[in-house]
Parts: sequence; C-alpha cells; structure tokens
Amino acid sequence: MSRPLATTTAFSEVSACPSGLDPDRLPAHVAVIMDGNGRWAKSRGLPRIMGHRAGVEALKTTLRLCSKWGIRALTVYAFSTENWSRPGDEVNFLMTLFQSVLQRELESLQSEKVKISFLGDLKALPDRLQELISEATNLTSGNTGIHFNVCTNYGGRRELVLAAQKLAERSVKGELDPALIDENIFAEQLFTAGEVDPDLLIRTSGERRISNFLLWQLAYTEIHITEVLWPDFDEVALKHALFDYQSRCRRFGGIDPITSDCLGT
Ligand code: FPP
Repeated sequence: MSRPLATTTAFSEVSACPSGLDPDRLPAHVAVIMDGNGRWAKSRGLPRIMGHRAGVEALKTTLRLCSKWGIRALTVYAFSTENWSRPGDEVNFLMTLFQSVLQRELESLQSEKVKISFLGDLKALPDRLQELISEATNLTSGNTGIHFNVCTNYGGRRELVLAAQKLAERSVKGELDPALIDENIFAEQLFTAGEVDPDLLIRTSGERRISNFLLWQLAYTEIHITEVLWPDFDEVALKHALFDYQSRCRRFGGIDPITSDCLGT
C-alpha cells in the first residue's frame, strides 16, 4: 500500500535546500525519464507491474522534495506514444494505476498547492482517466506551488508535428504570416507553452537516450544519467543529481561563462 502524499511538512513550505548546494543555482525546472521499473521488479522476482507501483512512491518522494526545495517545475515521462506497444496487460495496468493514483492523491496535491498538468495526446486515453485528468487540471489550475507536468501518451516528434499543423492551419486561414513564425511563436504551440525549458534532465537506470522526450525543450538542458533504477530513486539520488547540475558551466552555445562559478573552468 502506498504512503499518502501529504506529510507533516507541507509542500508549500519551502525549506532550506540541502547543505552544500547553492540555493540560488537550483534548477528552476527538472525533467525526469523514470526508467528501470521493470528491471527493479525482475531483480526481485516480481512481475513488472510491481516496479511501476514502486515507481509511484519514488515519484511522490521526488515531487515532495522538489517542492520543498523551491524547484518551480517537475516534468516526468509517465507514458510515451511508443509505450502502447507493450503487452496489453501492462498498458492496462499503467492506465489503471494513473487513475487510482490521481484519485487518491488529488486532495493532497490540491492542499499542497501543486498545479498538475498532463502533457500529450490525451484523447487516446481511457475515458475515465480523461475525466480525472480534466478534474485535476481544472481544480489545481490556479495553484501557486510547483508545476507538476505528467507526460502521458507523449511523444516529442508528435508534439512538433502537431505544433507545425496548428501553425500551418493559421497560415492557411490568413491569420499568421509564415515569415513571422519564430522560436517563441513555435514554442507557444507546444504542450509546454508557458513553462520555462528544463534546466536539468535526470534519466535513471543508466540508459543514455532521450527517447523522444521534450525534443524541443531539452536543447540546452544539462543531462544527469544515474545507474539508480527509478523505484530506488530517493533523496540521496536527487541531491546527487543537483550537485552534478551545480558542477556544470552553462554557456548556452556562447563562450563566456554565465556565472562567476564557471570562471577558470
Ligand atoms: C519505464 O520503466 C517506466 C514507465 C514506462 C512507467 C513510469 C510510470 C510510473 C513511474 C508511474 C507514474 C504514475 C503517475 C500517476 C504519474 P520500464 O518499465 O521501461 O523499465 P525497464 O526498462 O526496466 O523495463
């Protein structure tokens, strides 16, 4: 049975970031490819679905810590457009898991001021899940806490194609001069419109791929790969990722370091 999301420390109470980390240089937006659930289960002689169930606990811990430390947005890859090719039982389990977690946690998310959004082609999801997603999105839309974006039936290439279609339609109608389409206008068509691009991408289980995740948004994101399997991802692993992030010198393609910490590196 999973732990409730709510804890004695409210999400909304931002507390000191862990010692050794610079609170002024925390990532504003963290994205996560939660990988390794199946291997975690297999290594324990359990069915794969148990790995997904355990993964929910790691997700709750990560959301709670990011919120507590003042990270403004957390975007996770829960189900990709490619994941439909998994065995039907696993897909059904995941859809039911999303529903039950959403139902169970909505009250806590709301009381902790989390603003939840689901990014992806949601029309392909089961009707009941779509209803719960609408309810959760509407209920939390005005919340001032961490933005929690759950990528569900999400594919980076599909997102880019949909954006191109929307712009083409407006151009055909004469509403938009194609010559005026720039990066800002393009980004406004994406599921992530209004969100800053991720500063840090964490991928668990040692895989070194982007896997069709946030192809546009990750252009200048720092990538942290850890061997930790997603269900084992905990406070230590998150701190490790943040220390790794703060050790980087972000130049965004330029040559001058953007923070004094980069000087001499
Ligand atoms: C990848 O591991 C994980 C997934 C495809 C599912 C992730 C979903 C969760 C952690 C549940 C999230 C719940 C909510 C409500 C958002 P894998 O199965 O590919 O692992 P493997 O590579 O070891 O097989």
